[in-house]
Amino acid sequence: MTAAATLPAVQTSQPVSDPALERIPLLDLRAQYHAIRDEARAAFDMVAESTAYAQGPVTKTFEDEYAAWCGVKECVSVNTGTSALHLALRCLDITHGDEVITVPMTFIATAWAIYYVGAKPVFIDIDPVRRTMDPAQLERAITPRTKAIIPVHLYGQTADMAPILDIADTYGIPVIEDACQAHGAMYQGRKAGAIGDMAAFSFYPGKNLGALGEGGAMVTNNPKYAERARMLRNHAQPERYFHDEVGYNYRMDSLQAAMLSLKLKHLDRWNLARAFRAVRYKELLEGLPGVTLPTHYPDAQSVHHCYVIESDFRDDLRAALTAANIDSGLHYPVPLHLQRACRLLGYAKGRFPHSEALSRRCLSLPMFAELTDDQMERVASTLHQAVQTVG
Ligand SMILES: Cc1ncc(COP(=O)(O)O)c(C=O)c1O
Repeated sequence: MTAAATLPAVQTSQPVSDPALERIPLLDLRAQYHAIRDEARAAFDMVAESTAYAQGPVTKTFEDEYAAWCGVKECVSVNTGTSALHLALRCLDITHGDEVITVPMTFIATAWAIYYVGAKPVFIDIDPVRRTMDPAQLERAITPRTKAIIPVHLYGQTADMAPILDIADTYGIPVIEDACQAHGAMYQGRKAGAIGDMAAFSFYPGKNLGALGEGGAMVTNNPKYAERARMLRNHAQPERYFHDEVGYNYRMDSLQAAMLSLKLKHLDRWNLARAFRAVRYKELLEGLPGVTLPTHYPDAQSVHHCYVIESDFRDDLRAALTAANIDSGLHYPVPLHLQRACRLLGYAKGRFPHSEALSRRCLSLPMFAELTDDQMERVASTLHQAVQTVG
């Protein structure tokens, strides 16, 4: 696919007098909002008039729509992706003394959920090319205390789920997908969220499907998990003001649900626009000395939540982008096993070399559906110039 001539026309930021100096953001949420503003205002007004603000009927509508979109039976909307992961672990009755296997190259919330139930995060390294859980390391990490496995679909690319599910199946261990960065990603014909026993999504504003604040969802094909999660998210009350166990207020606001329903209608198109931009970046950046581009797999379609290149000269490249008024990101600069919050787990530096290398080398370039070809060319030419001086 050649992207240059085929980038779909989309609304862009306000032009300034000198486009060469215009800031290029990592993500342009205002451009996205402007494209749907009239519909959004009507939806907000509908919620305001309804007065059903906390988990009203629009929340249920969004749950039905999102479950259908993912190809699962059940969607339990919640207030954040972190809560969705937490509820998934509670549904499995995971508790003190249990272990949950995941990767250190993820956002910290993957580990928070494990800590919240009192269990111990057990890390295994990533595959350095795919940048997700390395299935070859999984079996060795399993102990009689292992109660769940959480592969993370990092940057919009699913983990290599088939071997992970095979091993999990052999040992009878449930798999929870951390799909917080992978709305619509495909793996061997299935959508992220429809592959494991349960999955967690985040609707944090910057996600491919983002709320106008916080939001999340736990999805599953198992009605028992869904029923338990629905109860736990609403103060664990099977009947109003009766509480049989400790619950949470993890409900999704109606305003967020209305916004998410509206954005869901556009999500396939926005994901496709990101895919075109990933192809265009590849055209523009291929062969850049000392720079590794993301690898894509024929059986696993990424949704390009982040477009992450790698380089030993990452900091120099980033400085060059900053000097050219181009925003960039680091996802993530410190892997979880080296975070101070996780120090009691006792992992030493060097233990997970691929995660550590990625955290040193990763550089997220601007990526969003409204990114223009001119903007991408400016990003690319800045990087081309930078590699001349840093190499
Ligand atoms: C991989 C991953 N897991 C979990 C989360 C937590 O989601 P939230 O920020 O909605 O709590 C995020 C969101 O940033 C994430 O990227």
